[in-house]
Amino acid sequence: MQLKSCCIYSTGVLSILLLIAGISLVLSNVFPHILQSVVKKEVVLKNGTEAFEVWENPPAPVYMQFYFFNLTNPLEVVDGDRPAVLEIGPYTYREYRPMEQVDFQENGTKVSSVNTKTYIFQRDMSRGPESDLIRTVNIPAISVMEQFKDNLVLANLISSYMKSENEGLFTTRTVGELLWGYEDPLLKALKLFKPNLDDVFGLFYKTNASNDGEYVFFTGQQNYKDFARVDTWKGER
Ligand SMILES: *[C@@H]1O[C@H](CO)[C@@H](O)[C@H](O)[C@H]1NC(C)=O
Ligand SMILES: *[C@@H]1O[C@H](CO)[C@@H](O)[C@H](O)[C@H]1NC(C)=O
Ligand SMILES: *[C@@H]1O[C@H](CO)[C@@H](O)[C@H](O)[C@H]1NC(C)=O
Ligand SMILES: *[C@@H]1O[C@H](CO)[C@@H](O)[C@H](O)[C@H]1NC(C)=O
Repeated sequence: MQLKSCCIYSTGVLSILLLIAGISLVLSNVFPHILQSVVKKEVVLKNGTEAFEVWENPPAPVYMQFYFFNLTNPLEVVDGDRPAVLEIGPYTYREYRPMEQVDFQENGTKVSSVNTKTYIFQRDMSRGPESDLIRTVNIPAISVMEQFKDNLVLANLISSYMKSENEGLFTTRTVGELLWGYEDPLLKALKLFKPNLDDVFGLFYKTNASNDGEYVFFTGQQNYKDFARVDTWKGER
């Protein structure tokens, strides 16, 4: 699988900065003093400014596109042949990333928030529905076998279990399952012995509608050059 970043990969913050850069180029010769004071007043994360609105809810769409490699010769690969694949895609998701739990600190010089990301499937920008099937490497099975390869008894148990369940080196799953998660039968069986094992596998499992921890940003109030610069992430600099 391959992740191709898309045409319109720009955040609101970036577009605001570009806009300002553009305006500065035009105006800097003409109204240097006016410009400076406008920039200083508007480019600050403060409730009510346009910069804050764009930062809180980026209007520029961000898309993630996925391409999969559909394996066409699984039996031959098991016999030692080179894998033959067909590239299939794109499957497109729009990413929404609003700032949440926004909290101004230290007299408005800093602001803390979490960046919650939500992915919505875009059928009209995709080659097929999320239910399209892809035959690909059975990642959970391979990592389990790798983990237990030195324990002959366990390795044999796992291998005969996989045979009985008709599970192999390859698995055929939907696009939605591969990306966002599916209950894997082998992991589910292992869970009987290791109750706190997570038996769901997906390349982006748990990333939807979640955030990667709290950020603290400079608001730019003290120096407009610090606008939206990250001060700390999860309490660390
Ligand atoms: C910004 O102001 C609006 C209206 O006064 C208020 O509803 C909102 O909670 C404020 N946001 C923050 C992050 O303080
Ligand atoms: C906020 O401003 C007030 C008044 O200027 C000052 O006394 C206080 O120390 C400031 N607080 C912080 C956290 O900077
Ligand atoms: C992500 O979560 C949102 C809200 O819970 C949901 O509407 C959306 O369908 C989910 N996206 C995927 C790709 O599962
Ligand atoms: C991928 O290959 C599988 C197995 O041959 C097939 O069932 C599936 O339809 C293929 N997927 C696509 C999107 O063509």
